[in-house]
Amino acid sequence: MEKLAALVICWLAMVMPMGQCSIEGPEEVYNWFHKLPYAEEKVSKLHFYFHDTLSGKNPTAVRVAQASGSAKSPTFFGVVFVIDDPLTEGPEATSKELGRAQGLYGSDGKEEVSLLMAMDFVFTSGKYNGSSLTVLGRNPVFHPLREMPIIGGTGVFRLARGIATVKTRSLNTTTGDAIAEYHVVVIHY
Ligand SMILES: *[C@@H]1O[C@H](CO)[C@@H](O)[C@H](O)[C@H]1NC(C)=O
Ligand SMILES: *[C@@H]1O[C@H](CO)[C@@H](O)[C@H](O)[C@H]1NC(C)=O
Repeated sequence: MEKLAALVICWLAMVMPMGQCSIEGPEEVYNWFHKLPYAEEKVSKLHFYFHDTLSGKNPTAVRVAQASGSAKSPTFFGVVFVIDDPLTEGPEATSKELGRAQGLYGSDGKEEVSLLMAMDFVFTSGKYNGSSLTVLGRNPVFHPLREMPIIGGTGVFRLARGIATVKTRSLNTTTGDAIAEYHVVVIHY
């Protein structure tokens, strides 16, 4: 019964103009591009919290590299982290998980702490389950408000472009653990 329901949903998604049910093959992707001239752009807004945990037994952000001078640098210049950070609906760690932020960030400011963020928001629940957005941009983490470009996506977010605005909600200066609030607005099809 469940299988049948899944098939019907899948079929519905296939006959919808720009819909998808799961990862599509090259033919389907090509056809999707072919239909683009008739597709309508839409604007979607997303809101979630990003939990960057460096401390404890199960960190979601790990330091993988640094330069010989990084330890003495007041801006941690040259340090690189790989992350798999939960994205949640609310600010609490126990709040519903919407996806993960997977990628890396590196400290690339000598005068001021700033991170180059290169990451994907991989959605694993809700209406964007199975789709992703890619962020590539500068994050001067001590500014009250930052803006980073969304440069693409997959699934329902194919060819997405947009902006993420970011505020730090909490930062433990001893451990480096942080929670940031993300507002994302994207144009997609
Ligand atoms: C998300 O999609 C995957 C793959 O289609 C599915 O297995 C999973 O149950 C979905 N998760 C939720 C929370 O809907
Ligand atoms: C920061 O983390 C340390 C170690 O877990 C903890 O002892 C301390 O209370 C935390 N500080 C704040 C402000 O939460």
